[in-house]
Amino acid sequence: MSNLVIIGAQWGDEGKGKIVDLLSSDIAAVVRFQCGNNAGHTVIVGGTTYILQLIPSGILHEGRICLIGNGVVVDPGVLCKEMDVLSGQGVTVGPERLKVSRKSHLIMPYHKALDKAREENRAESKIGTTGRGIGPCYEDKAARIGVRAGDLENPALLRTKVEHALREKNTLLTKLYNRPALSVDEVVREVEATAARLIPHLTDVSAAIAECEAAGGRIMFEGAQGVHLDIDHGTYPFVTSSNTVAGNAAAGAGIAPADLGRIVGIVKAYTTRVGSGPFPTELVNDVGCFLREKGAEFGTVTGRQRRCGWQDIVVLRESARLCGITEIALTKLDVLSGLDEIQICTAYMFRGEQVLYPPQVENGMDLVTPVYETMPGWRENIERAKTWEELPKAARDYVLRLEELTGIHISIISVGPDREQTLFR
Ligand code: GDP
Ligand code: IMO
Ligand code: MG
Repeated sequence: MSNLVIIGAQWGDEGKGKIVDLLSSDIAAVVRFQCGNNAGHTVIVGGTTYILQLIPSGILHEGRICLIGNGVVVDPGVLCKEMDVLSGQGVTVGPERLKVSRKSHLIMPYHKALDKAREENRAESKIGTTGRGIGPCYEDKAARIGVRAGDLENPALLRTKVEHALREKNTLLTKLYNRPALSVDEVVREVEATAARLIPHLTDVSAAIAECEAAGGRIMFEGAQGVHLDIDHGTYPFVTSSNTVAGNAAAGAGIAPADLGRIVGIVKAYTTRVGSGPFPTELVNDVGCFLREKGAEFGTVTGRQRRCGWQDIVVLRESARLCGITEIALTKLDVLSGLDEIQICTAYMFRGEQVLYPPQVENGMDLVTPVYETMPGWRENIERAKTWEELPKAARDYVLRLEELTGIHISIISVGPDREQTLFR
């Protein structure tokens, strides 16, 4: 039995949290490898709802070790709060279970201030960021002036880094964005307030993974966002600030690429997107409203409405190529019940030609027209279906057609938010 990587194959919110939780039962450790608390996963187990942002969704299975890898950007205050909420719900989140890489970068108060100031300053081209400081934190990492989780153990170094960073950030905040300056003392105090709590969790994540593997354990790598929000391969510039593709699990966790194993793509039965950016199959009509209401498509992190549209095979085809998806978990099939017809986008028209992959020009996806095929819908409620055979024929045909068009086996079908509402094929 090999390791596995879970990635969102669309623009995020595919239901990764639910599937990670579901597949955690025979896993030794679950590792987050990129981004931070811009992610929001809702997992429902036996009627209780859990919200996860930084802590891997495997935490809901007692005995699993959960690791936050070097590729993640960690807001220390948010992590402490998330631990508090989960432990209030009876989940064990002690240092023996939850470990954080010393090499992960910390989101500092000035990252959040800059993220918000910049977004407000962008007149017409807002990215729709979650405002959580993700981009500015990765900028500092690349500029080699970032504060890392391991620096919590070295207060003098932490202070020097903050002093250095604030010289530049305060100039930007006050001179360019007309915002108040932050004081070194204030920033250091806020971050150091979390140190006593977080230091016991700090570890060498790469070594911890190797140890689990040496003991015969399987590892799951939990992606956040989706492939089309990837900083290189997504709909740039309307993307997040890290690589969301499966390959980044190796760099962001500290393991060899050959050890990644199966690559499970999480695919919503239709498509959603939060924030700005191209979305060829978006439905700005009654069907879009139907999907939003029935699918409760409102962001976990910011509460914003998610934009909704038909399934897009061009998007999935590109995700499959970029990530080597070996199987698909199809979520929210229940939401499609009640539609007369369902459309699937199989290709785009771009500058008079039919294309099977997104055009490689900036905002190219804004310039395409989807080519659709239409399938019959179904009326039956499928939320209680337990087997493939219990699904209406039209629902099975839709799943089989997605399989045919992507060339990838759909091994899991989710028909409701609860862990139990899942069919295995
Ligand atoms: P993630 O960020 O990919 O983990 O996804 P989110 O948790 O942000 O969004 C998915 C939403 O759909 C959550 O509210 C889940 O509880 C819910 N969900 C997951 N799977 C299903 C499903 O099969 N059917 C329905 N109706 N809801 C689902
Ligand atoms: P999960 O893991 C959906 C989107 C934001 C915005 C863009 C950049 O729950 O699927 P950022 O704050 O990263 O600078 O915002 O990316 N975005 C997400 N959309 N699901 C997410 O995570 C997202 N994380 C970021 O809405 O458009
Ligand atoms: Mg989400």
